[in-house]
Amino acid sequence: MSNDILIHTEAGVMTITLNRPERKNSITSAMYGAMADALAAAQADVAIRVVVLQGHETIFSAGNDIGDFLNKPPAGMDSPVFRFLRGIAAFPKPLVAAVCGPAVGVGTTMLLHCDLVYAGDNAAFSMPFVNLGLCPEAASSLLLPQMLGYHRAAEALLLGEPFMAEAALEVGLVNRVVAPTEANNLAQSVAKKLAAKPMTSLVETKRLMKKGQQQLVAQQMDEEGASFGRMLGEPAAREAFGAFMAKRKPDFSKV
Ligand code: COA
Repeated sequence: MSNDILIHTEAGVMTITLNRPERKNSITSAMYGAMADALAAAQADVAIRVVVLQGHETIFSAGNDIGDFLNKPPAGMDSPVFRFLRGIAAFPKPLVAAVCGPAVGVGTTMLLHCDLVYAGDNAAFSMPFVNLGLCPEAASSLLLPQMLGYHRAAEALLLGEPFMAEAALEVGLVNRVVAPTEANNLAQSVAKKLAAKPMTSLVETKRLMKKGQQQLVAQQMDEEGASFGRMLGEPAAREAFGAFMAKRKPDFSKV
């Protein structure tokens, strides 16, 4: 059993920790599967009231494992990555995230589905899908323009360059910026506070805030997923992944 995802439950709070620091917490298919299963278990268990998602003080996640993209691309909408994305988007209980260091690709887009996000001042958010010959996922092509406004979303998604914690705070992607040593602790203390509140009220409040969007989010995710799956096998992405593995600059002049 791999330790790449750690699950710890205490006093009504389930904590899911990305724990693959030697690969910058990049996420493999098995890790998506473990997180999807953990979310499903948390949803079903009345004793679990809040879920916290966290990484390490120096790295949240380098996004999808690029070796997996090359060798084991997700096969269809029941694949672990889509199970995880659908699970996080529809998760009915409060979700709190603590983010430090780079949060690349899905490392950023999963945060759009968290209710409260606390960032270390070293957090660097980026969504370099275009730079990888891909397109956005996790309904980020819908949710980011809503959150950031079209032009800032276009900058984030078309250029794919990192923006830091303070900029994320300004646009409302994170709730608070603290020292990296404090982010996980802050997420835990907020989760404890939430866990002491009436569950029925938390769940109903979240449902009411999200209900206008739920179906749109699911539809956008499906459409993105179909495009993403197709683009994974196309020349631009193959060139980008090959370049990453060979530690060279990609050449998109022919795609
Ligand atoms: N998939 C697979 N391996 C990855 C990875 C990923 N997404 N991100 C990092 N790694 C590996 C590196 O290849 C490297 O392996 P090596 O030790 O065998 O050379 C190791 O993790 C450390 O990464 P490195 O790039 O040296 O760390 P860094 O601190 O200089 O940079 C990042 C950290 C996250 C900025 C950088 O690794 C990065 O940009 N990763 C790719 C992100 C990406 O494009 N993700 C896909 C999004 S859809």
